[in-house]
Amino acid sequence: MMNIPDELKTTLEAHNQTHLIQWWYELHDSQRVSLLDQLESIDWNEINHLLHDVEADDASQQIERAKTATPPETLVGLNDQIWSEENRADLRKRGETLLRNGKVGAIVVAGGQGSRLGFEHAKGLFPIGPISNATLFDFLCGQIAALTKRYQVDIPYYIMTSDATHDEVTEAFRGHDWFGLSPNQVMFFKQGHMPAVDAESGKLLLAAKDSLALSPDGHGGMVAALDKQGVLRDIEARGLEVVYYHQVDNPCVKMCDPEFLGLHRQMDSEMSTKVVRKVTPEEKMGLLVDIDGKTQIIEYSDFPEDLAAETTADGRLKFWAGNTACHAFSFQFLKSLAASATALSFHKASKKVSYIDETGMSQSPESPNAFKFEKFIFDALPSAKVALVVETSREREFNPVKNAEGSDSPATSQAALERIWRSWLIAAGIEVGEDVRVEIQPSFALDEADLIARKAEIGPPHAGKLLLK
Ligand code: UD1
Repeated sequence: MMNIPDELKTTLEAHNQTHLIQWWYELHDSQRVSLLDQLESIDWNEINHLLHDVEADDASQQIERAKTATPPETLVGLNDQIWSEENRADLRKRGETLLRNGKVGAIVVAGGQGSRLGFEHAKGLFPIGPISNATLFDFLCGQIAALTKRYQVDIPYYIMTSDATHDEVTEAFRGHDWFGLSPNQVMFFKQGHMPAVDAESGKLLLAAKDSLALSPDGHGGMVAALDKQGVLRDIEARGLEVVYYHQVDNPCVKMCDPEFLGLHRQMDSEMSTKVVRKVTPEEKMGLLVDIDGKTQIIEYSDFPEDLAAETTADGRLKFWAGNTACHAFSFQFLKSLAASATALSFHKASKKVSYIDETGMSQSPESPNAFKFEKFIFDALPSAKVALVVETSREREFNPVKNAEGSDSPATSQAALERIWRSWLIAAGIEVGEDVRVEIQPSFALDEADLIARKAEIGPPHAGKLLLK
């Protein structure tokens, strides 16, 4: 039988956490190994710091900071003169040169599950194709594959998973022929996790007798994971200079957008962000603001409601620049973040966390009972010497799938996709009735120009459907 290692016992005693091995003698050896693994991965100094030195719930602190925010001073708006036809062509050329020379890679953060959607799987596997039911991964990888073909160069795709999504995502890639990519351009890396801690006693919670209550360490956990799992080394070995970052939930993302990359490069930006105009004050989007002369993002939950509702003389929202979570990172900046222990700090939030109590009974609290800890990637913004913010077209580029119904739902996202595809068909002079469902996959056309070029291949709809792939 496997014993409790002395060193672990001493550590747990020192931190008043011996309840975590309370059930040790009821467990099988395999369960003990897995519990031991979890316990040994805990950074107790970090937990103590978060429990004792960080305010009870840092939302209140964040709200105080938010009160000093002003709209971002330097932002490239949709109608900025930078977008003159001549300049746009020049920026596009710059971005395309980076792509063609193999200097660009992409990262998708795919550690989340579709729980809010009522889809208890990795969110990337959510079916979004209006006709084909193709998944979010089909559309995202499809874009990378099409860009790879267009620029005749392998664009590496780094996919961040979590404990909850890793096996499902990696199996799906293997089972779906790498969603059209070549295996050597895909690299998975798993983000870390953090234990949930009882708010009153400071004790770590157990989800089961052989397991801590753990949750992903936030998309900011990406920085440490990139370093630990050799992704930074891979980026360096391939000679990439810019990394395009995006979330798994937006099928309309303009992957590795050359104009955005060109501008990022021209401005010598270290971290660039695409924003769109918020429609309502309540909308759940992080806000781009300036605080103490530094551009940063405040999460919607930390932004006071009255401030979010403030308007300017023309009746529009004063704080309007919503975070689409599309960024371009210079590789050197990513590397410097990984080398700095303080670049990103944990946010501490009160949450409801289910656990087993000291009698072994499962408890599902009805109000917040514990602290969870997450890092946000956008907290890196104030560390960037140049942090470019670029407004983009919401209709074209930001239609995520977040909720089962209402705004940001599969219905709104699919409607947006069909609207975009119909506009391409119209530009190509192809008429499709309103009652016909339309789907254009990236393998057929990445954009309007592609579609116009393949116009001759497009036949009539069949049974009320036009699927181009
Ligand atoms: C997020 C942003 C918000 C932005 C909005 C745009 C945060 C904290 N907020 O809100 O500022 O305006 O998107 O759509 O991100 N993820 C991981 N690991 C984690 C946590 C999240 O990979 O530990 C991934 C998810 O898979 C998803 C993305 O990050 O791709 C966003 O996570 P989610 O919690 O859904 O953020 P939102 O509340 O939608």
